[in-house]
Amino acid sequence: MKACMYPGTFDPLTNGHVDVITRASKIFSKVIVAVAKNDNKKPLFSLEHRIKMAKECVKKLKNVEILGFDGLLVDFAKQHDIKINIRGLRAVSDFEYELQMGYANSTLYHEFETIYLMPSLNNSFISSSIVRSVLNHNGDVSKLVPKEIIKYLKEIK
Ligand code: PNS
Repeated sequence: MKACMYPGTFDPLTNGHVDVITRASKIFSKVIVAVAKNDNKKPLFSLEHRIKMAKECVKKLKNVEILGFDGLLVDFAKQHDIKINIRGLRAVSDFEYELQMGYANSTLYHEFETIYLMPSLNNSFISSSIVRSVLNHNGDVSKLVPKEIIKYLKEIK
């Protein structure tokens, strides 16, 4: 059983992300959730907030670690001696973006493999951007994100 990483912006972490992390934690000996600073995406939540929220949500999963990173994903992977990348795949619409990223990463780091995991059907429509949109309009996101982070979402409103 090998270690893997699960990168993303997690702005914020959703039930879909937790679904994928839980699946990965059953397959791999260790999962590093790599929270990208990704300033170019102008995240709603600071990197520190996103890391804190992710930690709260996965604290029951003992082989999962949350770390922040800035820079290239493959450099982070090399620093942590990780050769397996996990990405969630929902609909066909994810495919093109994931294909590009997967090829870019394997070109930069030949031994790096990306494995795609599907969340369960009930989580397959959830995305951070949908959560942010619902939040922007003061909607109820309690069915979209883990209960542990509801308080943080209110804090920034
Ligand atoms: O879940 P997201 O927000 O689509 O994740 C995007 C992420 C963090 C995987 C991507 O932005 C990323 O890899 N950022 C690091 C910069 C990098 O390595 N770019 C080259 C590969 S696309």
